[in-house]
Amino acid sequence: MKTKAIRKKPAKKKAPAALQSPKQKLYASLVVQLMSLLKGEHDLVANAANFSALLFNSLPNVNWAGFYFLQGEELVLGPFQGNPACVRIPLGKGVCGVAAQQLETIIVPNVHEFPGHIACDVASNSEIVVPLFDGERLLGVLDLDSPTIGRFDDQDAEGLNELVTVFVAHEEGLI
Ligand code: SME
Repeated sequence: MKTKAIRKKPAKKKAPAALQSPKQKLYASLVVQLMSLLKGEHDLVANAANFSALLFNSLPNVNWAGFYFLQGEELVLGPFQGNPACVRIPLGKGVCGVAAQQLETIIVPNVHEFPGHIACDVASNSEIVVPLFDGERLLGVLDLDSPTIGRFDDQDAEGLNELVTVFVAHEEGLI
């Protein structure tokens, strides 16, 4: 099994715009678009729905983008874009449950090699799961699937972590 776990680290100093890769530039523009979508609205469901639609429509080669929120010992499906998905995932199960249990971002280049992967869409071949934190407390995960093997890399992990940090800070009224 080849997976890549990335423990949440303090934000790195960003590269100057001129030195950013096209992918980093895309994520920088998504931060601006997300902040504009969230402005003046604090309803969690509405904002998570718009956030998932922004990701689904802006990121290439993505066939599912959405949230699972922590309720007790399991993750429960939240707003998403893509095919209908399984509703409840116990902690430690599937890519989402493992990321939630380990409190870290997980990149899975090939989901067919991940023991216990939960297949919601037969088209999915790779996946990234990013935990959402309120301080140290886990709120849930953001999950993205792609039909392309090896679709997600460190720049996706960094960009998506920045986006969820903005999202949670906004929901908490911090920005
Ligand atoms: N593949 C995930 C389940 C959720 S769907 O991809 C939307 C997992 O293994 O946890």
